[in-house]
Amino acid sequence: MITFCYTAGGHFPTYLSSKRGDLMPAYVLVGAQWGDEGKGKIVDYLAAQTDLVVRYAGGNNAGHTVINQMGTFSLHLVPSGIFHPETTCIIGNGVVLDPAVFLAEISDLRSRGVDVSRVFISDRAHVIMPYHILLDQLEESAKGGLAIGTTGKGVGPAYMDKTARVGIRAGELLDPISLKPRLQQVIQYKNSILTKIYNSEPFDLESVFTQCVEWGKQLKEFLRPTELLLQQAITHGKSILIEGAQGTLLDLDHGTYPYVTSSSSSVAGISGGLGIPPRDVSAVIGVFKAYCTRVGSGPIPTEMPTDIGVDIRERAWEYGTTTGRARRIGWFDAVVGRYSSRINGFTSAVLTRLDVLDGMPTVRICVGYKINGEIVEHFPSTTTLFEQCEPIYEDMDGWNEPTVGVTQLSQLPKEAMRYVKRLEELIECPIRLISTGPNREETIHIEPLF
Ligand code: IMP
Repeated sequence: MITFCYTAGGHFPTYLSSKRGDLMPAYVLVGAQWGDEGKGKIVDYLAAQTDLVVRYAGGNNAGHTVINQMGTFSLHLVPSGIFHPETTCIIGNGVVLDPAVFLAEISDLRSRGVDVSRVFISDRAHVIMPYHILLDQLEESAKGGLAIGTTGKGVGPAYMDKTARVGIRAGELLDPISLKPRLQQVIQYKNSILTKIYNSEPFDLESVFTQCVEWGKQLKEFLRPTELLLQQAITHGKSILIEGAQGTLLDLDHGTYPYVTSSSSSVAGISGGLGIPPRDVSAVIGVFKAYCTRVGSGPIPTEMPTDIGVDIRERAWEYGTTTGRARRIGWFDAVVGRYSSRINGFTSAVLTRLDVLDGMPTVRICVGYKINGEIVEHFPSTTTLFEQCEPIYEDMDGWNEPTVGVTQLSQLPKEAMRYVKRLEELIECPIRLISTGPNREETIHIEPLF
């Protein structure tokens, strides 16, 4: 017997018109580097003009810091549009959901006075189970020196089960009768791996099952066929901001494989991860940090000398929102930037954390690589080649005047302006918004992004 039944209807017709007042389909904000570009602040800033903010990939490996008049928030699953009282937030089917993390995040938001009644999760989203988290950690330690440096949140193993067709989807948590035999089969298999390969303790079917049923009860109010909500929103002329997690260089296909995450974090993941057709995506906005950072393993050719890197890390507090790990810091890599721009088809770009470079005598931009003395302008496809890349730098004068908090382009020091213009040329797309600080208002909005 199916014990769950809900419809998507009744949500959007309560709004009379789109916030933008015209027929506006979806637009997407994608990380253009290795994640942590500051997308959370930009989503929070743009959500005021948007009816829905949705996530299509990744899980609680992501961490977005949002600072606004309500306080400072670290979000891992709930889309960053949650702070706008009329914005609907959707976690799409392409996301992998750890119910414990989601419920804790909801409870924290509620306790701080944030209305979470407009948060919905796709019933098709795959669940991160306790065995995924354990396997993530065991697999990483078994890899030794070749470890990916994952966040250890079970994201990779959950996507592995999805493609192996043994994953559990969020909607199934509402149907205990069908869930039990599926869970029994999966746990039997996982326990063989845990005990025989990793010499670890097995999971107890009954306790995992009881936990799942409890999660189902608590998640029920959030679960919806979100593809229908989105399709209805599009039909009603609502504007949809699609919030990317991680970054293009962590994309399973287009990133620095194997040092990537397990989902399509570039624009490629949107249609599959939300259930809306590509034709409804009208603008693709790339978010670039004014320099590069990377957390976890894998090469970063423009990594700065330790003294400069440490200085930036401490000033800009470049530590992972999810794991607290120190991020590696590099100069802006325009080869990576252009590659990302072309893979995603960016229609415009956002530049974040420009203020972090204030006071540097020289700022460097990597405009090409040398591999064994040969000049390479295209991003190489193998890690072995990427590791051999020696950056070719263009050095530009830095600026002494602070840019922090600047809101008008005309207030930027001329050297900072030159830096922005040069980046724009190199990434082949216009920079239409610059972030000069963590707060919403510390933003230079040059032109509309979409
Ligand atoms: P996983 O996604 O936890 O499997 O980790 C795979 C790789 O992606 C590791 O290098 C992580 O550090 C990196 N990663 C995953 N999520 C993020 C993120 O939100 N920001 C930056 N790096 C991330």
